[in-house]
Amino acid sequence: MVERDFIPKSYSKSMESGVFTWSSPSNIALVKYWGKKKNQIPENPSISFTLNNCKTITKLSFSKKENKNNFSFDVFLDGDKKDDFKPKIETFFERVEAYLPFLKDFYFKIETENSFPHSSGIASSASGMSALALCLMSIENELVGGDISDAFFIQKASFLARLGSGSACRSIEGDLVIWGEHDSVEGSSDLFGVKYPYKVHENFKNYQDTILLVDKGEKQVSSTVGHNLMHGHPFAEERFKQAKKSISEVKNILKTGDLDAFMALVESEALTLHAMMMTSVPYFILMKPNTLEIINKIWTFREKMDSKVCFTLDAGANVHVLYPENESENVLKFIKNELVAYCQNGHYICDVVGLGAKNIL
Ligand code: DP6
Repeated sequence: MVERDFIPKSYSKSMESGVFTWSSPSNIALVKYWGKKKNQIPENPSISFTLNNCKTITKLSFSKKENKNNFSFDVFLDGDKKDDFKPKIETFFERVEAYLPFLKDFYFKIETENSFPHSSGIASSASGMSALALCLMSIENELVGGDISDAFFIQKASFLARLGSGSACRSIEGDLVIWGEHDSVEGSSDLFGVKYPYKVHENFKNYQDTILLVDKGEKQVSSTVGHNLMHGHPFAEERFKQAKKSISEVKNILKTGDLDAFMALVESEALTLHAMMMTSVPYFILMKPNTLEIINKIWTFREKMDSKVCFTLDAGANVHVLYPENESENVLKFIKNELVAYCQNGHYICDVVGLGAKNIL
């Protein structure tokens, strides 16, 4: 597939108005995407677990309008009008207009809600952009008379979501999604995420992710600024090479179920992401003292209990605690007894690997 394959030929039907609703989850990267080229093309492939409970539900209502010269839309979060969300969506519409030529024909009302608190410091761009992309695909499907195959629908939704926010392209399907071309993964592409195509060991079934909310504030570094820091970064090329190698390693780990190798790889990826930010110009420390306290506690617990619990981080201070389902009881006890004290207001979110987005009728 190349970009122009996503440009529709023509629309056979017309519509005056309608409404579509999709629920789409967040995801947590095991091998991180950090650094991109023009047009949201990643510098390296990444792979993530799709989450189940952290999600966005977006209802998109649309009605034909007279003036077709510009985009016209309003955004609501939990019923409140959010004009500060508009620039990001305007940019998204500009990027996808060539692939969705109906965008200027309608006025859109975008009503969105998150299953997690907006101020939790959890990125809602992956779930939000993927939910919106799916709603737009539902419109396109009507306009071509319902002719779009499920496979193309999903692929184009992921392609569009990527243009909204890179990691959003990994939120359409579950339970593991790879984005970015890699020789060892058939069908992988820089343009969209694909469901991991190989058999996965049962150790990874229902893998648990408990998100410890260490800092619920606004992100200190936006992802756009963060990715840009990789341009001219002294370690960039090595990092991109390393990520490609990590994908080959993860492939073997997912096959064999080697949890020790999994923990080593996932933690190394998280710390490397932060190391990139600490060594860029300008530099940032996105962990907080409590992030480090938690990491050390996890390491001590792991050693003492012979556990397979590990952590990963996004570009912020919150900690994702990852562990196999059969350790749920013990690890949750450990979290409540020893880690909650380091969370802001004692808040954390229990999640588990999920299957991807759902159309809500
Ligand atoms: C650290 O997808 O938020 O979470 O493409 O600029 O929207 P944009 O970036 P974004 O970057 C996420 C980076 C990350 C790692 C990851 O999810 O792979």
